[in-house]
Amino acid sequence: LMADSLYIINNFAREYFSNTLFNTEEGQNVGLSYFEERGFTQETIRKFQLGYSLNTWDAFTKTALAKGYNLDYLQKTGLVTVRNEQPGDNYRGRVIFPIHNQSGKVLGFGARILVKNDRAPKYVNSPENEIYVKNRVLYGTYFARHAIDKLNECLLVEGYTDVVSLHQAGIENVVASSGTSLTQHQLRLIKKYTNNLTILFDGDNAGVKAALRGLDMAIEEGLNVKLVLIPDKEDPDSYVQKIGADAFREFIANNKQDFVLFKLQISMQEAGNDSSRKSQLVNEIAETISKIDKTEDFTRQQDYIRQCSQLLKIDEQGLINLVNKFIR
Ligand code: UTP
Ligand code: MN
Ligand code: MN
Ligand code: MN
Ligand code: MN
Repeated sequence: LMADSLYIINNFAREYFSNTLFNTEEGQNVGLSYFEERGFTQETIRKFQLGYSLNTWDAFTKTALAKGYNLDYLQKTGLVTVRNEQPGDNYRGRVIFPIHNQSGKVLGFGARILVKNDRAPKYVNSPENEIYVKNRVLYGTYFARHAIDKLNECLLVEGYTDVVSLHQAGIENVVASSGTSLTQHQLRLIKKYTNNLTILFDGDNAGVKAALRGLDMAIEEGLNVKLVLIPDKEDPDSYVQKIGADAFREFIANNKQDFVLFKLQISMQEAGNDSSRKSQLVNEIAETISKIDKTEDFTRQQDYIRQCSQLLKIDEQGLINLVNKFIR
């Protein structure tokens, strides 16, 4: 089967890149040093099966072809590209983050450039194929699922390194959206383990906007969504490395806010004294509240109605009536 062949090739590549990282001079001097500078321990590097791809034209390609792997399949995984009829390596001089499915099989890779520049993308990711469908995958699920289940909460971050650093700090119930806004498939994946989703996003506009976009869908899926804004210029990785595990946990505990109320406060600031925009946002919040799944927790919707009517300084029964208009 095609899928099996792709899994086999990815597993071979995972071992190859890991071996390159630990057992070649370039791997040690360039790749390992890079990870060490970022504060990743050997144990962490081994756990996440991180690797390094040599800065050569076709070192991986030659080895894979010599092993007898099929060129078409190698291209499908994105590990090999053909330029001017010459097959060669797609990832060159990059550190490698394997992307696992829920049972630990490798679906693809994220490959980070060592020094950011304007000519090449920071991360090169596997293309979509029979086994890697981006919008169905959350990075880190394999390593996080037991902790998510046990703590009955899933933390969501943006990037690979956020997941890795938080694990190293002992915070294991964390997965990454890999920089895109959440899809319904991903929300359902989370729902297999918990109804409680806490989004840890950069305080920058892009981060918050991406998170807000996912909100209504998350609510519709019956998730209880909280938000923690990470301070300016930091992300969960840089912040936990900066302040340490204990302070980071404390920061999360003290800064968790309800996402529906957060959204309302942002919208209220934007609306200011404009009365038509105000009534529009009352409508919007009523629609959001109407989507809260009452089969899980009946009082949650009532709590939101009470808190939102207080924030908006409007009559509670008026908001109830409006919410009911959206329920059919
Ligand atoms: P970030 O730009 O926040 O990167 O993108 P990062 O995770 O903090 O990585 P470091 O710390 O600079 O190494 C968040 C995520 O978006 C995806 C990756 O999944 C990344 O982890 N991304 C970002 C890409 O796929 N390609 C890119 O060029 C940039
Ligand atoms: Mn559970
Ligand atoms: Mn950002
Ligand atoms: Mn980062
Ligand atoms: Mn980041």
